[in-house]
Amino acid sequence: MKTIISPSILGGSFSNMEKTISELDQSKAEYIHFDVMDGDFVPNLTFGPKFISDLRFKSKKIFDVHLMVNRVGNFLDDYIDAGSDIITFHCEIDENINELINKIKEKKRKVGIAIKPKTPWEEVKKYLHHIDQIIIMTVEPGFGGQSFLNNQIEKIQNLSNYVKENNLNINIEIDGGINYETGKLCIQAGANVLVAGSFLFKQEDLIIATDKLDDFFNK
Ligand code: DX5
Ligand code: ZN
Repeated sequence: MKTIISPSILGGSFSNMEKTISELDQSKAEYIHFDVMDGDFVPNLTFGPKFISDLRFKSKKIFDVHLMVNRVGNFLDDYIDAGSDIITFHCEIDENINELINKIKEKKRKVGIAIKPKTPWEEVKKYLHHIDQIIIMTVEPGFGGQSFLNNQIEKIQNLSNYVKENNLNINIEIDGGINYETGKLCIQAGANVLVAGSFLFKQEDLIIATDKLDDFFNK
C-alpha cells in the first residue's frame, strides 16, 4: 500500500507560507497538513479559516486540516468553504460527533477523527464505519518538535487489525515526532499516512527533504 506523506506547515515560519505551500506543491507529498489550534482545546494558538482559504489557490494538493479546537460546529462551514479537503476533529471534544460527521459528509468533504495519546482507540470504534480517516497522535497535541511516544505503537497495531478484520476503507494517519525511524515503526504497525513537521523543515531544502521521505516509504 502507498504511504502518503502529509507535511505539517506548523514546522515552517508563518512569515513564509506562500513559498512553503508552493514548494510543497512541487514535492511528491500528496497532502499538506494544517494544524488549527484555539488556545482552549490545546495550550497554543495558530490560525483560522482565512489563512487556509488564502493559501488554497497556491496548491492543488489535498488540504488535510487537523482541528485541535473546541466548538468545532461553530466554524465548520468556514473550514469547508476555505477549501479543506479532509477535516479531522478530536473525539475528546464535548459535541455531537455524529452531527459533525454528517455535516462534513453532506458537503462532500472527507472526515477524520483524531485521538490524543491517552485516549483508547476503542472510544472511536463506533464511528469507524462512517469516517475516512483516523489520526493517532503520537505526541500531546499543541506543539511541533516533540518526541514520538513509542507507547502508541500498540494502539496503531490494534486499530489497524480492527480495520483489516472489518474491511474498512480508512486512512490511519500518524501525527507527531515522525522521522525515518519512527515512521517505519508506524507503517509496520499498519499506518498509511505520516504527518511530518519539524523533521522536514529543519532540513536545508524542503522539496528534497519531502521527496526523500516519500521515496523512503514508497520505494
Ligand atoms: C501537533 C500537531 C502536529 C505537528 C507535528 O499538535 O498536530 O501536526 O505539527 O510536528 P512534528 O512532526 O514536529 O512533531
Ligand atoms: Zn496535526
